[in-house]
Amino acid sequence: MQTVQEAATLRAMIRSWREQRQSLAFVPTMGNLHEGHFSLLRRAHNCADRVVVSIFVNPTQFDSGEDLAHYPRTFEADQVGLSERDCDVLFFPAIETMYPYGLEQTVRVRVPGLGDTLEGVYRVGHFDGVSTVVSKLFNLVQPDYAVFGEKDWQQLQIVRHLVDDLSLPIEVVAGPTQREPDGLALSSRNRFLNAQQRAIAPAMYATLCWMRDNYTSGHTRTVVETAARARLQRVGFELDYIVIRRATDLTEPEKYIHTGLIGLAAGHLGSTRLIDNILFDV
Ligand code: PAJ
Repeated sequence: MQTVQEAATLRAMIRSWREQRQSLAFVPTMGNLHEGHFSLLRRAHNCADRVVVSIFVNPTQFDSGEDLAHYPRTFEADQVGLSERDCDVLFFPAIETMYPYGLEQTVRVRVPGLGDTLEGVYRVGHFDGVSTVVSKLFNLVQPDYAVFGEKDWQQLQIVRHLVDDLSLPIEVVAGPTQREPDGLALSSRNRFLNAQQRAIAPAMYATLCWMRDNYTSGHTRTVVETAARARLQRVGFELDYIVIRRATDLTEPEKYIHTGLIGLAAGHLGSTRLIDNILFDV
């Protein structure tokens, strides 16, 4: 595995792969890698001859309330983890490579609608930052495939929309959410949970499962959503939302619709914010 910081070096490597008619899959990350990320790397390998993983903690997707400075940075361990897993290139760009005109003057990419609901309400501007950096990374790496986790379902849909709307010649591939044995979705933020919060945390996934089972067995959406909210608040979550939406565009489903749905939740345990989701059809 090669670690590359310069865009020109990355381009030269990609050009030589292209000359050999090799395909390329890309996994963008912010580092602090865990089995969720590594599962995407395996998925990338199944798609293409070569795999590029990027690590870039993107400042434009953190809003002012969040502490960019405290995002866990574990570069050496990440590098070892990737090199043990057949990654061809770790792309680790400097901020000047990603934002040559600075953060204020950067061109911004925005996906309206999809980016304004759910997470977009609680993390204003977050998805503009994601869409912007993902567009930039796509232009630098020019992959055939880009692999994203279902854990961040809304992000995945936004990237699909962006690729489609900008006619990018990239196939977006989704990887299933990797979980702890007790159901908690793997996340870089789990390390911030204390023992008591860690014991409560699996309730989010358990409640999403409960919500799916109750909705599909015939209760109305609002009844199930209200009961699910109460369940999570009772165990100690400070909840942002737990809702049932249409999986593709995240709008509210009409009555009696039972296919193509997803349950999504977000809430705090102390200062740690967790999100999760569950598809209803599988
Ligand atoms: P990051 O949070 O590092 O996540 C990188 C990728 O790993 C995302 O596609 C995310 O959905 C996936 N992922 C995280 N936890 C997962 C889990 N438990 N199971 C499966 N996949 C999981 O998402 C970002 O970074 C950034 O927003 C980024 C797209 C890199 C843009 O900055």
